[in-house]
Amino acid sequence: MSEITFSRRAALLGAAALPIVQGARAQRRPPSIAISSANGVAACAKALEVVRAGGDTLDAVIAGVNIVELDPNDNSVGYGGLPNEEGVVELDASVMHGPTRRGGAVAAIRGIKTPSKVAQRVMEDTDHMMLVGEGALRFAKDQGFLEEDLLTEQSRLSWLVWRRSLKDSSGHNNWGPGLDSPPGARKTAVLERLKQEFPQATEAMLALAWEHATNPPHGTINCLVLNDKGEMSGVTTTSGLAWKIPGRVGDSPLIGAGLYVDQEVGAAGSTGRGEENIRIAGAHTIVENMRHGMSPKDAALDALKRAARNFGNDAKRLEPIDLNFYVLRNDGEYAGASLWNKRANGAAPQFAVATADRASQRENSVYLYERK
Ligand code: GLY
Repeated sequence: MSEITFSRRAALLGAAALPIVQGARAQRRPPSIAISSANGVAACAKALEVVRAGGDTLDAVIAGVNIVELDPNDNSVGYGGLPNEEGVVELDASVMHGPTRRGGAVAAIRGIKTPSKVAQRVMEDTDHMMLVGEGALRFAKDQGFLEEDLLTEQSRLSWLVWRRSLKDSSGHNNWGPGLDSPPGARKTAVLERLKQEFPQATEAMLALAWEHATNPPHGTINCLVLNDKGEMSGVTTTSGLAWKIPGRVGDSPLIGAGLYVDQEVGAAGSTGRGEENIRIAGAHTIVENMRHGMSPKDAALDALKRAARNFGNDAKRLEPIDLNFYVLRNDGEYAGASLWNKRANGAAPQFAVATADRASQRENSVYLYERK
């Protein structure tokens, strides 16, 4: 038999065998597993605990991300998230419930610490998929959510440092003593003023504020879960891009971009620069790639290649872009994938995983490009 004939035969046999293989995979009892972005070690542990106790998969992931939404020290999600350019925190979130194939979302919602729960109420208690801005806040308040100030001392400090760091092309900024002040006075005044305004601010808080001001983050949490009945759900929640124009909405609340779940195949979610993910409908692309036979890892790398192609695969232009996917197939196979092998701070991109026989922990993601 020639090699070509053999390959053709193998392909034909392979194609014929596919439904049988998929059938066998579906019949096996899947392992309970939760995965999330790297900031979700506690979220995965919680989500797994809820599903192992027999809880609903969507309640599980929401209980998981609520830990991060309520954490004042996570500056990318919920309470303590970095605000928009006017110093107001605006949050985005989406949820998808695999068993009922439903979803819900909120975008640019102010004053509510747990937008993931509001997104769940949109799904359960309205005939809509997404509420935004003022309407989303009014709906949340009608549902009994408390309107609160979402700024913490750190996030307010970071915003003030960011405003004071803006300069015109001659290096001038209107904050601090005027140009008519004595020589040398302007140089230290901004920092000194901030120290007076924030007497509790430690050097570490000021250093973090400077980091936030100069490298605006788009942190987010995505969490996906699978239970041993094969049911899946997912959530993505964020304060979005720091210092954004008020009303800017990223990928997190957009079903198909920041989150997609089809429990007949799997689920995917993302963190990083939402604008790039929206352009490739990343989470939906990944689930469809898996539907057509790709592994979670290859499905996510393919989505990253699509994002890179929008920049003509030009590594220089892609350099400032952070984009990460988290993928869970309905048989428990999973992957984390990032555009770059290192974040701006030099750390390797990671994601969190919790399984029945291993405590929640971080693993390294695969990546498309290596930073020199
Ligand atoms: N991925 C979060 C955002 O861009 O808002």
